[in-house]
Amino acid sequence: MTKRLLLLLTAAILSMQAFADEGMWLPSLVSSRIKDMRSKGFRLSADDIYSINKASMKDAVVLFGRGCTGELVSGEGLLLTNHHCGYGSIQKLSSIDHDYLTYGFWAKSRGEELPCEGLTVDFLVRMEDITDRLADGEDAAAIIGVAEKEGKGYRASTESMYYGNQIFLFVWQRFEDIRLVGTPPSAIGKFGGDTDNWIWPRHTGDFSIFRIYADKDNAPAAYSAENVPYKPKRHFTVSTKGVAEGDFTMIYGFPGNTQEYVISDAVDYIANVSDPMKIALRTRRLDIISAAQASDPHIRIQYAAKHAAIANAWKKWQGEVLGLKRLGTVEKKREYERRFAAWAADKPQYAHLLDSMRAAYGRNREAYYTYELYNETLLTLDLPLMARRAAANGNDMSKYYRDFNPDIDRALAKAMLAEFAARIPEGRMPQALTDKVARYGSTDAYIDYVYDNSKYVDPRTVGEASADDPAAELYDIVMKNYPRGYRARNLSDLKEIRSRYGTYLRALREFDPERAFFPDANLTLRVAYGKVAGYEYADGEYHRHFTTLDGVIAKDNPDIYDYNVPQVLRDIHRKGDYGRSGVTIDGRHTVPVCFLATNHTTGGNSGSPVINGRGELVGINFDRTWRSTMSDIEFDPSVCRNISVDIRYVLFITDKVGGASYLFDEMTLK
Ligand code: ARG
Repeated sequence: MTKRLLLLLTAAILSMQAFADEGMWLPSLVSSRIKDMRSKGFRLSADDIYSINKASMKDAVVLFGRGCTGELVSGEGLLLTNHHCGYGSIQKLSSIDHDYLTYGFWAKSRGEELPCEGLTVDFLVRMEDITDRLADGEDAAAIIGVAEKEGKGYRASTESMYYGNQIFLFVWQRFEDIRLVGTPPSAIGKFGGDTDNWIWPRHTGDFSIFRIYADKDNAPAAYSAENVPYKPKRHFTVSTKGVAEGDFTMIYGFPGNTQEYVISDAVDYIANVSDPMKIALRTRRLDIISAAQASDPHIRIQYAAKHAAIANAWKKWQGEVLGLKRLGTVEKKREYERRFAAWAADKPQYAHLLDSMRAAYGRNREAYYTYELYNETLLTLDLPLMARRAAANGNDMSKYYRDFNPDIDRALAKAMLAEFAARIPEGRMPQALTDKVARYGSTDAYIDYVYDNSKYVDPRTVGEASADDPAAELYDIVMKNYPRGYRARNLSDLKEIRSRYGTYLRALREFDPERAFFPDANLTLRVAYGKVAGYEYADGEYHRHFTTLDGVIAKDNPDIYDYNVPQVLRDIHRKGDYGRSGVTIDGRHTVPVCFLATNHTTGGNSGSPVINGRGELVGINFDRTWRSTMSDIEFDPSVCRNISVDIRYVLFITDKVGGASYLFDEMTLK
């Protein structure tokens, strides 16, 4: 081997290894990382993080709702999460007279805490590797059945790690009497809105406060006035000392979905086909919605939630494409796969593996693309959906029509049908749609026909709609042709492809024994660790690791909705009345707001506790910078940063804006 080749190989190997701050580790197996963690400033033991014999940190972390994380901060069930995680519950509790989204809400006593119907939190009771038990012939359903009888409110599930190479039993305890204790106004909790979403410098107070209630035996129970605050086995001590650059941080939470081991074909599809298609389609939708919003303040509010939902992934994907290209992930993976193939050539069980994976991608790629195209075009339209909604909801359609504007939906429909027709692969255009377009002359003319004649455009005429209403007909055409067999959260998750990854991961462990393998995120409890750090955003442009209240005020602009600082916060700033939250930074008296760290996080980590080396709570995770988002596929320690709200800002807002410092009495502040 030539020296050059050797060097190249070493570089390739190094670049594919888990970097220092990369990884989302299973808490029950965290002992394998503890040496590394301690060398970086963690002072506690693996047992402090996860134990089934004694109270540990895992008893203070919950799955909040269906896709966020929360943490316990008192012995009386007090829980912190993000404002954007509590948003749905806060919205449900709000009315014109009690607009908690706009004005915030602060219970002045326990009696004022507001029950959140439908909201649940799940504690992890324990997790267990049952791979061997299953291999010995035990039945998964039976294992789950036994586990669910272990305690009140218990639920169990099996979760596959490493594409099925390891199966874990997770046992949860679900609580369902959860009450809202406090939330800042959106102008603080969502400050910066979509403009600042995924962006640093950030100034969002993205937190809300809830309380878990239990029956008199401290067990889960449906809402009852008799219920009492839940006494958790463990809650976090809150550190008011703050963080400094370089400090150890650990994120304990529920990351949703990553694909760190997919082959180059998958990354190529994501970076060159799927993301660009979805970004372009969403750009068109956002342009149409934004223009309408700019023309009418009522529409701005009416379409705010839709705009936010479209824009969130839209921005994330742009960062992902940029990051994957900059890192050359496709090429790097190709090189890695070349070496893998050479290694595998004389091993019969692996020799044809990559080829078979490639072939599976080849067979599924176009159909999956079509599936994604439907999702991002025809399935985004409201009017065709109204027909189905009316069938399911009878006449109670008000909630759908409140956020529906037929002119905007018509404009969206024209754009999306034209895009669909232009982008759909040869031979996959539904004949019925082709016929409609031919009959009315163009995609636009067909859409005009639908929107001019459907009874579903107006809630008052829904009752008159017939089965052959043109919107219902369009919906039928879409659903008859929708490739629902390809439903999967990503191309690699299609069964025919996913099933091959089990073997691939086993092979990789032999091929690349030095690599630190962590299981892809799958909304199970994980530990990620790193450090507080700024980064070089661009040549010559360093982003510091923290922001302050002065930056909130600097962004203040009453004419821009996202930057309209509440008057109370302006007044506090003017007086410099920060109480115990005030700190001096660079000679300025101010309040810390957000900070950056190198933790490997993803969607679902919202609301996760950010924990310092002593196990104390220093912040609440809520975002990444958009340049970090390729970390779902390849983590780059030089730019990947998670964004947290500083716990001192949480305390400051609770005290000075909420007037709810009585809550501090039940917390452990240090
Ligand atoms: N980007 C964050 C996440 O993916 C926050 C989203 C909510 N905030 C917003 N401004 N849309 O969930």
